[in-house]
Amino acid sequence: MHARIVGTGACLPERVVTNEDLQATIDTTDEWIVARTGIRQRHIAADGQYASDLALSASRRALEAAGITPAELDLIIVATTTPDMTFPGTACILQEKLGANGCAAFDVQAVCSGFVYALTTADMFIRAGQVKTVLVVGTEVFSRLLDWTDRSTCVLFGDGAGAVVVRAADRPGILASRLHADGSLVDILSVPGSVCGGAIVGSPFVKMDGGAVFKAAVRVLAEVAEEVLEAAKLRSSDVNWLIPHQANVRILEATAKRLGLGMDRVVSTVARHGNTSAASIPLALDEAVRDGRIRSGQHVLLEGVGGGFTWGAVLLRW
Ligand code: UT7
Repeated sequence: MHARIVGTGACLPERVVTNEDLQATIDTTDEWIVARTGIRQRHIAADGQYASDLALSASRRALEAAGITPAELDLIIVATTTPDMTFPGTACILQEKLGANGCAAFDVQAVCSGFVYALTTADMFIRAGQVKTVLVVGTEVFSRLLDWTDRSTCVLFGDGAGAVVVRAADRPGILASRLHADGSLVDILSVPGSVCGGAIVGSPFVKMDGGAVFKAAVRVLAEVAEEVLEAAKLRSSDVNWLIPHQANVRILEATAKRLGLGMDRVVSTVARHGNTSAASIPLALDEAVRDGRIRSGQHVLLEGVGGGFTWGAVLLRW
């Protein structure tokens, strides 16, 4: 029993905030942001637009591409750091909006690695013979976690959602996956606040040691890529498309270089989307599938990294 992605979808909120827009409100420049991150613009959700709303649009597109109805879903997994509510999970809210009531539904919280964690979980459920059809979504309204006066973080992130439908198949599909976490690095990237007794305790905003995150990301993305390639008995030269978490174009370049791949084999959306956390990989995947870059039989390497510290990779044959 194998698992295959049979449909992809994406959703970006309408409102675009450019570097020039940010220049008008904080002490930054388009030149600094582009040189240090490659980001030129990001999409920001409207007031009242929640993670489940973006997830709903992305999911409908993925279901349509897969040619299946919500009633056929056995499981919904939503990766998000910005759920609609403390509970219930955004997957349950999405289930109701889709009209897929009755199937299992839960959230995965692994920040920017959330999508690879969720996709790996879907693969395990399918290969264990528990389910046949899974909707996997990465959705974020990360803009809600930003201090818009902190230039060291607010320029980096954006909102969006990406979804895939994964189905049981007699050929792979997902060739190999590996997940990791190192909780000793909790402090380098976190939102350290929580809600207690009706009040926010600690800070509700993203706190980050950018340099430490950068160095750790480049190291672990190279390591985990080697792990999945070895597990699938493939070499990096066999990878047609590398889709790393879209945090910073310099991280994408460094990861590609360590794998000996040119940037022409990397799907990069960071310039237009910014860092959309758990949504970044499925957003980039959907773009490259729909514009015809990713074709049947090709090898695609997805790599996530983020708060936790968490990281992981999924290697696919399309
Ligand atoms: O999903 C994972 C999420 N996080 C990441 O991926 C972040 C990974 N890290 C990075 O992408 C980079 O470390 C950053 C883009 C955050 C920063 O780039 P850097 O090359 O590491 O710059 P830096 O932190 O060393 O800062 C250099 C200077 C500092 O000024 P001083 O101390 O040298 O005078 C900052 O205050 O740049 C200043 N700075 C800014 N200047 C203009 C920081 N943010 C800005 C800004 N505009 N937005």
